[in-house]
Amino acid sequence: MTSAAGPLLSAALDLERSGDTTGALEAYTAVATAVPSYDARERATALRRCASIHRRRQEFDRAIMMCQTAYEMAIAAGEHATAAEALNGRALVHIDQAQWANATAQLTRAFELAGSEALLIARIEQNFGIIANIQGDFPAARKRYLRSLMRFRQARDEQGCAVAYHNLGMLSADQREWRKADEYFAASLKIAERLGDIPFQASVLLNRSEVQVGLADYDRAFTDAEQALEIFTRLGNVSGKADAYRSLGIVYREMGIPDLAEQRFRAALANATAVGAPLQIAEANRDMALLYIKQERNHDAMTRLTAAHRLFSQLGANADHRRVVADVEDLEATFLDVVARYGRSLESADTYTYGHSERVAAYAVAIAEALALDPVDVTTVRVGASLHDIGKVRIPPTILNKPGKLTPEEFDIIKKHPEWGLEILEDLEFPWLIKPIIRWHHEKLDGTGYPDGLAGDEIPLHAQIVCVADVFDAMTSARSYQDPVPPGEAVAKMRKLAHWWRPDVFAAFVGSIEYLTVIADAA
Ligand SMILES: [Fe+2]
Ligand SMILES: [Fe+2]
Repeated sequence: MTSAAGPLLSAALDLERSGDTTGALEAYTAVATAVPSYDARERATALRRCASIHRRRQEFDRAIMMCQTAYEMAIAAGEHATAAEALNGRALVHIDQAQWANATAQLTRAFELAGSEALLIARIEQNFGIIANIQGDFPAARKRYLRSLMRFRQARDEQGCAVAYHNLGMLSADQREWRKADEYFAASLKIAERLGDIPFQASVLLNRSEVQVGLADYDRAFTDAEQALEIFTRLGNVSGKADAYRSLGIVYREMGIPDLAEQRFRAALANATAVGAPLQIAEANRDMALLYIKQERNHDAMTRLTAAHRLFSQLGANADHRRVVADVEDLEATFLDVVARYGRSLESADTYTYGHSERVAAYAVAIAEALALDPVDVTTVRVGASLHDIGKVRIPPTILNKPGKLTPEEFDIIKKHPEWGLEILEDLEFPWLIKPIIRWHHEKLDGTGYPDGLAGDEIPLHAQIVCVADVFDAMTSARSYQDPVPPGEAVAKMRKLAHWWRPDVFAAFVGSIEYLTVIADAA
């Protein structure tokens, strides 16, 4: 049954491709709500297109509701293929929300309903491929994409081919096969230009820009990102602008133009914040952190990393989002690197303690592992130990490097460094509970430590571990006031002070002394 809705639908599609989503929404809605003039298939199709626009505007609840209505309308009319299209559209919404199980369920049902509709099957296959790609199953993704590309080609569906080439480009980029990715994106772009699909062109340009960075072709990377930005700006697509600004920031960062990179990242952050997109905010923060690391702005880098880590972790916790989980792991590695740099940076002026934080971190990790702590606790100990003396930057070097005995007044100043450390890190919300380590690494079990004179169980385990590692390093390395003591002798001395530490912590320290000696020799 053909009706007058056909031309209306294709007019709406033209509006959509030109980037006029508001006009397209109106036109689709006219078809969808014109009960009962048009048949159920056309009304369901119009609803599904509306849903797709809402999805791209990140209005997910609305998009799902519309797909569901379209699905029910089509099922009631016995239009199974149209119902399958609605489920396929709904799967895309779940993919955008990183709800993989839900997306897979919709696609599986869509596949059952699709019958022998080759193009529909190709579109469903494409989306199965996207899920496989994001979950890191690259061979499965490639198989799905290539199979659907073949079907689109046979049916001479250009739009389908453009999407398949684009996805193959994304897959190759994820595998860092930049040349291949470049070719796929070029093929996709050519079709998108021929079809006049402006929003799609912008997406391809944006993704290709990243590939050019991979190829170290910054001029082309810049041109692609600028073009994408120009289109997104023209279309009023704020979320797209955030992505384009971030790409430009990356280009400038890699070209070694930090001022412009920072400006672009700030614009990315502002646009991402305006649309409230947590993933984009997290990515902008992470990329800014990488810029600051290059500039040795360690404190700024950590501020950005803590923000990015918090958002990525929330996203990863809310959904089974493997890519985000991988991002969090990358981020933690970057974090540890910055922490180590930060720890080192405060030692450079003070030759005697150079390497102290790094060694204490290595010893403390060995002790934590000997205590069979879980990986999060071990990382907490590592980060806390790397930064345990950060407050010492506020101690005048004349006191810090003073040969011979300190006066009581001077020692009072030294004793302030745990609290100063907390002040320096005040604005940073770490993914690990390191502040207790920094504050209490000089507390002793018998209550004779500082700054709070805690005793017994009041002192956290992590702080005790760093404390014993700290004393061992202080004894075994050269200071302005002492020659280094050999490790064996240090252990003998420390046995006499064993009442400072929890018995299990001290036993773990003694038990790993051979390994600690190896670390000490290597340092
Ligand atoms: Fe200290
Ligand atoms: Fe220390």
